[in-house]
Amino acid sequence: MVLPGTRIDLFGENRLRTLKTFLFIALCMPAATLVFDLVSGALIEPVEELTKTTGIWALRLLLVTLAITPIRKLTGWHKLIRFRRMLGVFSFTYMTLHFSIYLFLDRLLSGEEIFTDLTERPYIIAGFTCFMLCVPLALTSTDRMMRRLGGRHWQRLHRLVYPAAIAAALHFIWLVKADITEPIIYASILALLLGWRLRVFMIKSDRRSGTKRSNNGSGQGSTPVMGQSS
Ligand code: HEM
Repeated sequence: MVLPGTRIDLFGENRLRTLKTFLFIALCMPAATLVFDLVSGALIEPVEELTKTTGIWALRLLLVTLAITPIRKLTGWHKLIRFRRMLGVFSFTYMTLHFSIYLFLDRLLSGEEIFTDLTERPYIIAGFTCFMLCVPLALTSTDRMMRRLGGRHWQRLHRLVYPAAIAAALHFIWLVKADITEPIIYASILALLLGWRLRVFMIKSDRRSGTKRSNNGSGQGSTPVMGQSS
């Protein structure tokens, strides 16, 4: 029972922890369902279905991770940031599963076939590029690594997520042979998210050059502004 005058903090620490637990379980579900279907023999083309499901979840979660900041700004729910790392790490986990399925089950670790794919198939090159760009992001996703690198360097490094997402979208577009509606939908969502980032970046740099201009006018142009990125 809620006593009169009691303030309900909808997203207090306890509730956030519960939401995080639910999110963790939800993010495990695609993998758990795959394992269940595999064991129960429900997969008609197991390797193909394993590859596709892990690939699509890696991409979806990458896009959701990128959407966190715009949603935070639009809704004002800043605590959403607390879910971003988990989403990013799960995206990388699905990528790793996807790549491992390709290496071990699809190509049966045949060095020759993998080499041919990596040198001759643009969609494989794009997928691999995305994966490689995400490796340093996953390795530096802990609080300890964030502290070690320092906020600004960490942020710069984590901008690799944008080329990684573009490579992932290209991977999907290039691998589809007939109907490209689905990859185009994902690419459009990515374009919206990147467009939003670009707009924020342009507004910030406009403001920065405005500040520099007014500082120059008042004779303080050479004083560096603390915390401002170069
Ligand atoms: C690490 C290198 C990668 C390799 C070798 C690879 C390989 C593959 C292969 C063989 C397919 C199936 C193609 C087909 O159906 O003909 C596929 C599909 C797919 N991959 Fe990758 N991939 C890689 C990385 C990635 C990454 C990083 C992402 C996402 C972030 C991704 C997302 C997808 C998607 C969305 C599909 C299509 C799923 C569908 O058809 O529903 N892949 N990939």
